[in-house]
Amino acid sequence: MAAPFNPESFIAKTIRDIPRSGIREFFDIVQSQKSVISLGVGEPDFVTPWHIREAAIYALENGRTTYTSNLGLLKLREAIAASTEKHFKVTYDPKTQIIITVGVSEALDIALRALINPGDEIIYHEPCYVSYAPSISMVHGVPVAVSCTAHNNFAVTAEAIEKVITPRSKVLVLNFPTNPTGGTMTRTDLLKIADVVLRHNLLVITDEIYSELTFEGEHTSIASLPGMRERTIFLHGFSKAYAMTGFRIGYACGPVELIEAMMRIHQYSMLCASIISQEAATEAILHGETDTAEMRDQYRVRRNFIVNAFNQMGLTCHLPRGSFYAFPSIKNTGLTSKDFALRLLQQEQVACVPGSAFGPSGEGYLRACFATSLDQIQVAMERTARFIKRL
Ligand SMILES: Cc1ncc(COP(=O)(O)O)c(C=O)c1O
Repeated sequence: MAAPFNPESFIAKTIRDIPRSGIREFFDIVQSQKSVISLGVGEPDFVTPWHIREAAIYALENGRTTYTSNLGLLKLREAIAASTEKHFKVTYDPKTQIIITVGVSEALDIALRALINPGDEIIYHEPCYVSYAPSISMVHGVPVAVSCTAHNNFAVTAEAIEKVITPRSKVLVLNFPTNPTGGTMTRTDLLKIADVVLRHNLLVITDEIYSELTFEGEHTSIASLPGMRERTIFLHGFSKAYAMTGFRIGYACGPVELIEAMMRIHQYSMLCASIISQEAATEAILHGETDTAEMRDQYRVRRNFIVNAFNQMGLTCHLPRGSFYAFPSIKNTGLTSKDFALRLLQQEQVACVPGSAFGPSGEGYLRACFATSLDQIQVAMERTARFIKRL
């Protein structure tokens, strides 16, 4: 008789070892609770601006329902090239150095798949976006985390990066402003990192998805620093700045050879990003700047409120200079971040993400997304303060 079929045993080992995202795990619980205020998922509460939605509708009306070139619509790549030049001071050839992807998620995945041989070490700063370590493991790379602290406003230092460099180090992943901490970098500090990158012959992947949501100072891309454009893959997308998460659209810019390598993976796995989303993204990048500015102004008001509220209730919270996340310390409560988040959810119906979901250096913190209406944030803070008093 044949052995009983066990689907588990057919799953590749690398995938079996990868845990589910700490955010999703937590939000399965949220779904089952009533009257929860969610400061959880990192998604704008704004609906995509009407003129951008209209561009998608118009594309459909006109029967724009086909594949596009693997690299994406040329007019969108041209608009991206103009935007990176204007906002990031980096020039890319739209014909050969830009690829349109299914969100920054796909861009990150194909960048890693194009670069990593088994055993290569990839350095990134932590706490970090939940997908970095698993994405690195899935391509058989070795994730090497550099811890950042509130003391330094969650910026990463050149010294800390240099300390973990070995002969196997190949890529440095940066994400400023950072999810989940709102950390940003000054140009001076990025120059020091660029120096380390050049001396050790590393390649940089920079995920700048929150760059438009910079509240203080000017955002600098490492790609714009001397000698860096040639060794940087610049990732960006439309999800956060234009409230377009559901369109699933992003892009990567970089050296011709690397974009060509990424395109080969993309053409066999995705073929191309949705043409409807590409039409909408073209409208966004050409005419959406004021929408982004308006949303940023509202996020700023909410940020000031939430940071103040956390500090007043005794949860020390640094000022996030970018992104839409507050990252207060819960260390003085003596609870783990998971216990704290679970109890807050069960007792006061406020959902935040435990800092530990963003790597071991996130333990002792909580991520509260302020891309929610000010009214909701106010109620959530009243409930959290009540919860803290009872501890
Ligand atoms: C740092 C960071 N990179 C990438 C992504 C994924 O973005 P996209 O919707 O473009 O796939 C997110 C989403 O939360 C993020 O926070």
